[in-house]
Order: sequence, then structure tokens, then C-alpha cells
Amino acid sequence: MLSQKSMFSIKPLALAITLCLAVPMSLAQPGPGRNENAMQETRDIAAAMLKELGQTLQAAMASGGPENAIGVCQTQAPDIAKNLSLKHQLQVARVGTRARNPVMGEPNEWQTLALKQFETRLANGDKPTDIEYVQLTKSGSYDLELRYAKPIVLQPMCTACHGSSEQISSSVKAKLQQLYPHDKAVDYKPGELRGAVVVTRILSN
Ligand code: HEC
Repeated sequence: MLSQKSMFSIKPLALAITLCLAVPMSLAQPGPGRNENAMQETRDIAAAMLKELGQTLQAAMASGGPENAIGVCQTQAPDIAKNLSLKHQLQVARVGTRARNPVMGEPNEWQTLALKQFETRLANGDKPTDIEYVQLTKSGSYDLELRYAKPIVLQPMCTACHGSSEQISSSVKAKLQQLYPHDKAVDYKPGELRGAVVVTRILSN
């Protein structure tokens, strides 16, 4: 089966990994095989994305505080996603439950479903590290599309830019306002679902 508990832990952010299976049984191929390898590779890519994001953000916060780190989130996060996408010939991105960037951060239909499942699982007390979303759908006549998502849970350090009005400094607020006039990504609390890393790839026959 494609369902496996995630084996890795993401240290810098201790971010969330969840298992939610939405694999139509007819498409899920049991036993070791091409799809299973792709599955593990996809997990690893999502983990790499989270790890690199976390390290880059932490370094930027340490060296220049949140004012400095806004640039990391704005330019380096999409760059990290782009580089991984090109390297592995698939699409990696991150989306939010309430997006800051309406162009990059809004979830599509399946991603919205994944986020809803994550919210339910977290509310039920499941550990973020045990959670992920996997869906295989047909793509064209022969190919399969693998859709994978892993939760991003808010950490205390994120509140400098995603927390309450008291937690975000006035200079950060001003900068965010200027860059993201339609920002919805505030008032999050640590432990709350902030979004997901999402991976989409075609498995060719
Ligand atoms: C220094 C400010 C800052 C900090 C700290 C910060 N973020 Fe963000 N975050 C942003 C900005 C700016 C964006 C919009 C990036 C863009 O334009 O794509 C963003 C976007 C996101 C998105 C993509 C969805 C969206 O809303 O557009 C996620 C997910 C996210 N942040 C999670 C986190 C998490 C988790 C943390 C803590 C580990 C964190 N952020 C810390 C500023 C920050």
C-alpha cells in the first residue's frame, strides 16, 4: 500500500507530517514498485523543502530580525520551491489556510481538501508528524497524477509575522501591509495549522 508513516523528523521547525489517505483503491498499487518509490521520493522532496525553508528563515531571523526575514519569505521561499521543482521535474509549492500571497499561497481544490483533513486530524489530537495527504488520480489515458501534501504548523517564531496584532511589530506590519494589501495570514497561534507543502507530479507509464 502507499500508506506508510513518515519516517523522518524535521528538526529546524519540527514541522508537521500527516497521513491521510485518499487513494482510490483501483489506482493504488500494492507492494514495492514504481509508485512506491515515487511516493518515498515525494516525501523526501517535501521534507527537503520544509527543512531548507526552516533553516533559511531561522538564519534570516537571527541575523536581522523579522524585518529582514520578510524578504526570505517573499523571494527565497518561492525560489527554494522553484529549484526543487526544476531539479525533480515536478511542482512543489506552499499554500496557506488563510493566504498572505493571493497569487502563490491560495490552495486549489484538492489542496483545500487536504488542509481540511489536516485540521480534522489535528483537532482529533493526531500528532502533526503522523499526518500526510496522498492522492493518486488519472491523468490522461495512461498516466497518474500524484498529489501529496504535508502540514505546516505554526511555530512560536512565526508569530512575528503571522501572529496577533500585538505580536507583530509596527515596522513589520507596515512592510507587510505594503507588500500584501490582501494579507489574511495573521492571528495564527502556535500549534495551529498554517498551511501545507504541496507536491504534484505525473507518474508516466
Ligand atoms: C519575517 C516574517 C515571516 C515569518 C517569521 C514567517 N513568515 Fe510565513 N510568510 C511571510 C511572508 C512575507 C509570506 C508571503 C510569501 C509570498 O509572497 O509568497 C509568508 C507566507 C507563508 C506561507 C505560504 C502561504 C501564504 O500565506 O501565502 C506559509 C505556509 C508560511 N508563510 C508559513 C510560515 C511558518 C510556518 C512560519 C514559521 C516557521 C513563518 N511562515 C514565518 C512572512 C513570514
